Amino acid sequence: MEVSSNDYSVLWLEEVDSTNNYLKEWLRQEPLEEGTTVVVDYQVRGRGQRGNGWSSEKGKNLLFSLLLYPKRIKVNEQFILSRIASLAVKRVLDRFTDDIRIKWPNDIYWKEKKIAGMLIENDLLRGEITRSVVGIGINVNQQSFPDELPNPASLWQITGMEHDRVKLLEVFLQEFFSLYGGLRERLWEGNEKLTEFDVGQTRSRDRVRGRHDSGGELDVEWIRWHEGQREAIYTAYMSSLYRKEGYHWYEDHNGRFQAAIQEVMPSGHLVLRTLDRGEVRCYAFKEVAYVNP
Ligand code: BTN
Repeated sequence: MEVSSNDYSVLWLEEVDSTNNYLKEWLRQEPLEEGTTVVVDYQVRGRGQRGNGWSSEKGKNLLFSLLLYPKRIKVNEQFILSRIASLAVKRVLDRFTDDIRIKWPNDIYWKEKKIAGMLIENDLLRGEITRSVVGIGINVNQQSFPDELPNPASLWQITGMEHDRVKLLEVFLQEFFSLYGGLRERLWEGNEKLTEFDVGQTRSRDRVRGRHDSGGELDVEWIRWHEGQREAIYTAYMSSLYRKEGYHWYEDHNGRFQAAIQEVMPSGHLVLRTLDRGEVRCYAFKEVAYVNP
């Protein structure tokens, strides 16, 4: 099956080892356009974070990889792609439930359970991202999971009904490109550089902070219009974070501690503030884990 718009084209296959691998192998054989998306019914060796696998019952879930050629995104700002992909998945799932959160860096949670994950593989040249393969797995119609998976959830389990995977993918791609397209215009079709400094500047502006801290519904459209796309992405990501409020338990190589999330930096580092001494600690992915008390 093939679906396409100006932004993307979709190739739906029955079975591959991993959609990320398939897309990268395909790229070795011929040039592919930005937006090329490979979807499969079954992955023989689906790949997850931290070298783990990603298992999924045949024909039940959404398993896909999307090809991007971003420009002018520096290595230490690369997390913007993760933010966009996470927000797009969240927006798809928000249509069905209120309880979707992004667990740093880019796991998608329904309450305390994981409903989607992503594996983003970037190619870098001279300190900038030249190519990104965004691999996403969303549990859609799977009704039960193997016992060894710690805390899985699916849309079927939440809503008690089957969902059309083609439709969900289309919604995802539209949401993704509505965010990414704005970034593209500002970053490389316009004449602007995404810098950590800019993001910091915007976050300190009263208008955004007032809106964000007011506790009201975050109006992404409003912020996008007034402040620009990247700031909207930054703010929407922060407001969607799992455990964004209050103190929670974490564990690093020194042991367990309670802390609050202070921010997620443009590089993707998680900044935590400890409860006992108010110490600010900055972590890369894998350096800290969420702990359930
Ligand atoms: C994780 O949370 O561990 C990441 C899971 C990523 C799974 C998706 S499924 C489609 C794409 N192809 C892969 O091999 N992995 C990603």
